[in-house]
Amino acid sequence: MATTEVHDWMYQSVGGDAGLTVLVDNFYARLWADPDLKKYFEGIDKDALKKHQRMFLTFALGGGLDAYTGRPLASAHQTLNITNDAFDSVAYHLRLTLEELDVERGIISIVMGYVEGTRPQVVFA
Ligand code: HEM
Repeated sequence: MATTEVHDWMYQSVGGDAGLTVLVDNFYARLWADPDLKKYFEGIDKDALKKHQRMFLTFALGGGLDAYTGRPLASAHQTLNITNDAFDSVAYHLRLTLEELDVERGIISIVMGYVEGTRPQVVFA
């Protein structure tokens, strides 16, 4: 078996690059419409953030080990005072976004487990 084989079935099943563009657009539309969350994103370069989030999800879904060139999650979040409640809301919006796009339930579970694992790198409040 080739050692360079790419296990990108999750990335493919969310529709690859085109699917992730829709997913990330819908996800941030939800976050920025939520009165409890939008304060975190004031003054942030929203296009750059979407681009980094697409790259991060490409990496997380197996679309490429070198896909993500943004900062480590802890560096990006540690000065933002993000609470556990805010984290829960963001995770909830992500789940609804995935459900709305009819992503397979098994993949949603894997993604949500992965996201839960990032909590210590996001919540510092
Ligand atoms: C749920 C897990 C989360 C993941 C996987 C995640 C992922 C990311 C990624 C990949 C970036 C880009 C980093 C960069 O530009 O170098 C980012 C930035 C950011 N995230 Fe998150 N994030 C999460 C949760 C949250 C939460 C809960 C909030 C706020 C409620 C939040 C607010 C932000 C903001 C404001 C930025 C931009 C920071 C800046 O440009 O200075 N994130 N996040």
